[in-house]
Amino acid sequence: MTKVAGPKDKKDLVVAWLDDAYAMENALIRVLEHRIKDAKAYPWVRERDERHFEETRRHADLVRGCIERLGAQPSAAKSIMGNVFGAVQAPMTGMARDEIVKNFLVDHAAEQFEVASYRALVAAAQEVGDEETAAVCERILLEDQAMANWILEHLPRIVQERMRELAGATS
Ligand SMILES: [Fe+2]
Repeated sequence: MTKVAGPKDKKDLVVAWLDDAYAMENALIRVLEHRIKDAKAYPWVRERDERHFEETRRHADLVRGCIERLGAQPSAAKSIMGNVFGAVQAPMTGMARDEIVKNFLVDHAAEQFEVASYRALVAAAQEVGDEETAAVCERILLEDQAMANWILEHLPRIVQERMRELAGATS
């Protein structure tokens, strides 16, 4: 079994990056579980989060498959997202004024981070001639890009809805 820590050649580096991607997907599965609950009052958000939750679970399985195909095992309990985005996993503690909007901002950053990570992985996999890993990462990247685009496109709508609710509550 290949040891993922301390890559010693090109293939090890691909495995180490896949391992980071696997940790990232697992962290995002937990984030999306919270988001689905948090979006109770916004069915159109909830529906998209549920779709991406299913996609993210599939991404984690696909990445694990790539790691195993390369003769390694994913390492447990590693969280690159925790380091990168700090409180990204924290569930909402109540309906703070701008929490749902802040979720959109953080989630957009997380999806773009994923897109960049998979772009790097596609290049790395091609460098070692692993076309299957490159193809898998390319497909995952497209779904993360679609989610990032959706978040950005719908940001004005969530801002409007939230602001109008607050105006209604105070007038
Ligand atoms: Fe994603």
